[in-house]
Amino acid sequence: MPGIPSDSLRLLPCLKLIPFALAAAQQSFAAGSDRCLGIADLGPFKDTTIISATRVAGNSSVQPWGVCGTDPVPASVPLCRVQFSVKTSNVSEVKAEAWLPDEWHGRFLAIGNGGLGGCIDYTTLNYGSSFHFASFASNNGHDGDQGQSFYQQPEVLEDFAARSIHALSVAGKKIVRAYYSKSHTKSYYIGCSQGGRQGTYSALHWPKDFDGILAGAPGTNWHFLIGSLGLLSRYTGAPEGVTYPSFIPRNLWGVIKAEILKQCDSVDGVKNGIVDYSDACRFRPEVLSCSKGGEEGISCLTEPQLEAVRKVYSALLGQDGEQLYPGYSLGADPLTVFEGLFGGFLFPYANDWWKYGIYQDPDYDLSNFSLDDILAGNEIDSFQISTFSGDFTDFHARGGKFLTYIGTHDQLIPTGNAVSAYDLALEAMGKRAMDHFYRLFVVPGMDHCGTPLSPGPFRIGHNFPLPPKNDTNHNVLLALVDWVEGGKAPETILGTSSAGEERILCKHPLRSVWNGKKYVCKTY
Ligand SMILES: *[C@@H]1O[C@H](CO)[C@@H](O)[C@H](O)[C@H]1NC(C)=O
Ligand SMILES: *[C@@H]1O[C@H](CO)[C@@H](O)[C@H](O)[C@H]1NC(C)=O
Ligand SMILES: *[C@@H]1O[C@H](CO)[C@@H](O)[C@H](O)[C@H]1NC(C)=O
Ligand SMILES: *[C@@H]1O[C@H](CO)[C@@H](O)[C@H](O)[C@H]1NC(C)=O
Repeated sequence: MPGIPSDSLRLLPCLKLIPFALAAAQQSFAAGSDRCLGIADLGPFKDTTIISATRVAGNSSVQPWGVCGTDPVPASVPLCRVQFSVKTSNVSEVKAEAWLPDEWHGRFLAIGNGGLGGCIDYTTLNYGSSFHFASFASNNGHDGDQGQSFYQQPEVLEDFAARSIHALSVAGKKIVRAYYSKSHTKSYYIGCSQGGRQGTYSALHWPKDFDGILAGAPGTNWHFLIGSLGLLSRYTGAPEGVTYPSFIPRNLWGVIKAEILKQCDSVDGVKNGIVDYSDACRFRPEVLSCSKGGEEGISCLTEPQLEAVRKVYSALLGQDGEQLYPGYSLGADPLTVFEGLFGGFLFPYANDWWKYGIYQDPDYDLSNFSLDDILAGNEIDSFQISTFSGDFTDFHARGGKFLTYIGTHDQLIPTGNAVSAYDLALEAMGKRAMDHFYRLFVVPGMDHCGTPLSPGPFRIGHNFPLPPKNDTNHNVLLALVDWVEGGKAPETILGTSSAGEERILCKHPLRSVWNGKKYVCKTY
């Protein structure tokens, strides 16, 4: 293996025998020393090649690696930054970074991706390292948030669907051992959306990799998730665009959004711009019909537009009327995703996934993308990317903990998809086991992966901006650590809104309900 001196091969068995006390002493020696710059010599790392290693000062910023951005990204604490690649086959590799903080508390953290992968998540590298985890993130085996890389590249597809997080975990743990002269104590995973799917996939298929998994807004049931987003764009007219009669221009989505709030906001007892739970409101779009007045294109909807709205907010049904996938969340703000979802083009991830991931044909005509395409994709299910199984037997048996959350204003993933995943696991594992290892928190008014645009209590420590308190009641990452290491399973989480208001979040199936004085956890 190039770049790794043969000397270090001899050292490997000795390293394993270093007694705990000595290893601890070497850990502080590592901090600030040129151990970082010389990390390549601390191997061997097997299929891993160290590309660069640099010291990063606290409160500074670094240049990102890869094709996803050029703006400097913040680094809060002093650390050793290592860029490396892991060979996953003779034609594929995962590019990754390690952020190894000087003040390390012994924990390993792997970080997932978003969308169609391909971008290193620097924000979470900063979050993890500033909370003293040795933190690792990768490009998921390809560069950039598109699907072209999957075309006739089954190994790249396998990295994306099934393998990159495992490769990152195996290589990363070796790097931790070499750098700190000590193995990690516990290993964790954090990710949202695609990252939530990757975390779920790890629990299902690589159960030994992590002691604790934080899987946000999991993109599980992959073909139905991406495919139904494709259908949303079809309902409103893709690919014919603005000339199609069911097309709903941006301004009318504003009208629809206002009408949803008018009908649904107060159903939960509090008028605050949040539709707490979609299934508590029966939205009637026909109120907006132009036959009842209003000005076409300005303040009311034509019949084809009304039909499109009905489809968007209804469940996707199969031939026998069975529910295949839940409807779009009523609270989701359509204006924030107008271009990608409702703008008159097939949702880009659906386009890419079906052309390059499924049909392996860049010229495939997806003009009439339909349920049949979703079913075909789900049937092929490359490398079991669907990630829709409840069999967590091995993960549960090894003592793993699975913490997951979904926002009720998520613009891409309906609450019901996370609930379906929960129900599958419940069916396979039983109620007692679920309480022991798998907990879902539904967050009213949180948008996709919890951005500051969320009207609800989205600050839960899933990422920045952090909640006001670094404790296990407010921060899901710390709650997960406490669950894994302290045996204290999270019963509730206190979420904080942008305005600083706290609200109790409840372990599914309990819901956070206003009782006239405060929010409490109740059965629905
Ligand atoms: C970073 O800045 C904060 C506040 O400005 C300060 O408290 C902290 O000590 C600084 N950290 C480092 C590593 O310089
Ligand atoms: C990669 O390895 C496979 C067997 O695992 C072999 O069939 C293929 O020819 C190799 N490709 C290259 C580019 O070396
Ligand atoms: C899509 O459907 C239209 C109308 O049924 C049809 O004319 C057209 O040929 C279809 N396109 C493809 C690629 O199947
Ligand atoms: C939470 O912890 C982080 C990292 O240690 C720190 O930067 C931040 O100031 C802490 N926040 C509070 C409120 O203690």
